[in-house]
Amino acid sequence: MNKLYLWGIIIVIAMLGATFLSVGTSKGGLNSDIVNMLAIAGAIAIFTITVFVVIKYVRQMQMDNASGELADENWDGIGEYKNELPMGWAVMFLLTMIWGMWYWTIGYPVNSYSQIGEYNEDTAVHNTKFEAKYKDFTGDKLVEMGESVFLAECKVCHGINADGIEGKAANLNKRIDAASVKYVIEHGSNYKLLGTEMPMPDRNGLFNANTGALITDAEIETVSAYVANGMKGDGADIFVGACSSCHGPDGKGMEFVAPNLVEYTPALVTNVLNNGKKGSIGVMPKFERLNDKQKEAVGAYITNISK
Ligand code: HEC
Ligand code: HEC
Repeated sequence: MNKLYLWGIIIVIAMLGATFLSVGTSKGGLNSDIVNMLAIAGAIAIFTITVFVVIKYVRQMQMDNASGELADENWDGIGEYKNELPMGWAVMFLLTMIWGMWYWTIGYPVNSYSQIGEYNEDTAVHNTKFEAKYKDFTGDKLVEMGESVFLAECKVCHGINADGIEGKAANLNKRIDAASVKYVIEHGSNYKLLGTEMPMPDRNGLFNANTGALITDAEIETVSAYVANGMKGDGADIFVGACSSCHGPDGKGMEFVAPNLVEYTPALVTNVLNNGKKGSIGVMPKFERLNDKQKEAVGAYITNISK
């Protein structure tokens, strides 16, 4: 028999002996219960197989002569055989990559066993409790709750009275100013104000049906002032010609078509908080971290103060 196999057998017997010495037959040992027995039997099997597989490969290294076609390149006489990529290896490689992607996206980092996962779960639990607790808040109570959210999250930019701190952010006491309307007509708008992708064209897509031509600079001035003025004064004809097909004749918007330009609605505020936007004044950041009830409440608050 090859010396290596002899060594293998000696190592296995030595391990079995060592296991027996350390585990013994006392309580908790070899004859304690079936689960322990199975675990030890499994360990012995794994160990034995490992030893003999290693021996097999060591023998192969000792005995085998390499054969096959050599690649052209060689480095100081050391060359490479043109062997096929082993199928099992390639499959394992692919599976590892797929598993890696799963791991990073939905596996460990966001599930309950990681800190991020724990945080996400705790937040979800808290939000569910929060929303259940305040579910019945409506009317004045909801507005009051919205005011607290506003003072905590929004006043840094919009000011304690929501007046926009002299143009730092939008003045939320009124729906919209003329410069903002003008900016939207010039540039169009694509901020999911309706909750879904529904962009408004820019001036190159805005026809005045009364004249049949693209909206002009003068018309933009007039209609912007008209909208900012709560749909009063000059410009009603331009609005009907160029805007009302989407925003409605009274400017109050149409569901799934265009937003209300006359007053804020909780839905509009929620959509702004979910998607953020950029306008003539600056950038309104997303506020996804507020939960739905908080968004609804702050929307109710803004709707209320801008009436
Ligand atoms: C083809 C339909 C359509 C027409 C015509 C149209 N709008 Fe719009 N408008 C929209 C849509 C849709 C949005 C929401 C875009 C978004 O999600 O960002 C919008 C958004 C706006 C906003 C932004 C509101 C905000 O809260 O920021 C203003 C202001 C506005 N429109 C004014 C006008 C005026 C004034 C006219 C006429 C000159 C006009 N629109 C014509 C579809 C239209
Ligand atoms: C970092 C500063 C900042 C913070 C914080 C902020 N906003 Fe704004 N917000 C802005 C700016 C700037 C605008 C104007 C964007 C524009 O030019 O149209 C704006 C615009 C708005 C508008 C008007 C959108 C429209 O369609 O006309 C609403 C509603 C609004 N903010 C709500 C909120 C609420 C609610 C909070 C708190 C949860 C908040 N904002 C916090 C900067 C801020």
